[in-house]
Amino acid sequence: MPAITASAPGKVILFGEHAVVYGQPSIAVPVLQVAAKAIVNPWIKGVAGSVHIGAPQVGMDANLDRLSANDPLAAAVRAVLSELKIDQPPAFKLRVTSTIPLAAGLGSGAAVSVAIVRAISAFLGSPLSDELVSALAFEVEKLHHGTPSGIDNSVITYAKPVYFIKGQPIQTFRVAQPFTLLIADTGVPSPTRVAVGDVRAGWEKDSERYEAIFKSIGEIVQKARQEIERGNLEGIGKLMDDNHALLQQIDVSSPDLDRLVDAARQAGALGAKLSGGGRGGNMITLVDEKSVDQVTAKLQAVGAKGIFKTIVQ
Ligand code: PMV
Repeated sequence: MPAITASAPGKVILFGEHAVVYGQPSIAVPVLQVAAKAIVNPWIKGVAGSVHIGAPQVGMDANLDRLSANDPLAAAVRAVLSELKIDQPPAFKLRVTSTIPLAAGLGSGAAVSVAIVRAISAFLGSPLSDELVSALAFEVEKLHHGTPSGIDNSVITYAKPVYFIKGQPIQTFRVAQPFTLLIADTGVPSPTRVAVGDVRAGWEKDSERYEAIFKSIGEIVQKARQEIERGNLEGIGKLMDDNHALLQQIDVSSPDLDRLVDAARQAGALGAKLSGGGRGGNMITLVDEKSVDQVTAKLQAVGAKGIFKTIVQ
């Protein structure tokens, strides 16, 4: 059996994070500059059925049978074996690497799962359909997020801009005019699970207020899709600002995120918002090509830890 490599991109949520967990639509796009990679090699000296997982960036170097049911890498491997109904695979070694920053709202967990599922299923001679890859990655997302919407595994599996409603087939749409986003990292790691859990606690306490905010976010997402399909960049930017204001109301922004968002706007961006779980991680800002340098410089000046540019098309 030859070695098999599979990779999966990062992603950012453009509109609708958190509200998507409660049934509202959301829009996400792949970020192709970063990726997770899974490499599967036959383990010549391994006893049949043995699987070794190495993921140096998270300090993992262990055999599958030593890993708990809650370990997301092990869960991804077990999900494929169970889907293919294989109890005793030929021994193999899986190595996982990623250039996607962890806990930053860029979908690193889902990308790792998608890459693992693709590499192992191909190695075992039964590559799975995108639909199944996404479904298995979704099962693993539950370990990362608690109650995930499924948007991360969907956009990352299909590697296209998606309009997503929980429990429904994904919709793709036309980007009339490609646009440039800067993605800037606060440098504050923020596990999505915590923010998602806090939003749930808030919703349980005051469901009427939260539902009203989620509904307003849903309306923004619908309008944003229309503006993207029309190529109205100013309209998209304004809706990003509005979405950020609503995310502040459910307390998932942070002083660091707000500082970067304000700085981008002051430097001439068309709009800016946090992206993903919030509280830390990344913000995104829509810029026209001529203001990329000035917005980048301003973000650096107010403490952004990493900035990169991606083009949505
Ligand atoms: O933090 P991220 O980018 O993985 O995104 C989380 C998005 C949420 O809407 C907050 C949760 C979800 O499962 O959709």
